Amino acid sequence: MARKPLIAGNWKMNLNHLEAIALVQKIAFSLPEKYYAKVDVAVLPPFTDIRSVQTLVDGDKLLLTYGAQDLSPYDSGAYTGEVSGAMLAKLGCTYVVVGHSERREYHGETDELVNKKVRAALKHGLSPILCVGEKLDVREAGNHIEHTTSQLLAALKGLKAEQVANVVVAYEPVWAIGTGRVATPADAEEVCAALRSALSDKYGAELAQGMRILYGGSVKSSNVADLVKCDNVDGALVGGASLDGEEFTKLCALA
Ligand code: G3P
Repeated sequence: MARKPLIAGNWKMNLNHLEAIALVQKIAFSLPEKYYAKVDVAVLPPFTDIRSVQTLVDGDKLLLTYGAQDLSPYDSGAYTGEVSGAMLAKLGCTYVVVGHSERREYHGETDELVNKKVRAALKHGLSPILCVGEKLDVREAGNHIEHTTSQLLAALKGLKAEQVANVVVAYEPVWAIGTGRVATPADAEEVCAALRSALSDKYGAELAQGMRILYGGSVKSSNVADLVKCDNVDGALVGGASLDGEEFTKLCALA
């Protein structure tokens, strides 16, 4: 089954709303309209920029999509500092990142919480970009497949197959994030294929074949083409390289 690739730029905690507008304009005017028929492009700005991105995308009828980097597991109420899936949906978000290794590491997010956030995203019609990935010691011990598969299945626990179909999976080995040390295409393919096979065993081959599995970790215009050539890599979750309009559009064009 042909899967439409997705290139998503995770801006992390970078760019204010004025800088966000400038970057989105640069991306939008550098990629021809016909490009979007082949590849989906998304930006994932900080919460404070999303309203500005929405205004620009709606006003100029841009084909670019956008989303957030996190959401609350709760719908509303006394949860100071949290942003709900309902709020993100109202802002026109298509995606929301869930379970990024930086949230797991710096905010103590467990598989159980990631599962609640995946449910919250789906409940509000958002596609979770569910991140899984091993640290270096796990890879060196040869346990990366077991580790990432277990993160994946834990995050999807209790969901029905039709819900799982709306999830985008992102394999982001922690040792490759922000380090300049990209996984080889063979490394990325090995894990992405194993994740697809786990999805197939649990939810059926047809569903697994239709799901997008991205690679993330030091993706740049110089390495993206070889990564997305892999059978089971359906695009990229890009950090640092998504902050530079020229580099990001070059990367998109090469994907
Ligand atoms: O979510 C994207 C990510 O963690 C990879 O970051 O800077 O290595 O591309 P980077």
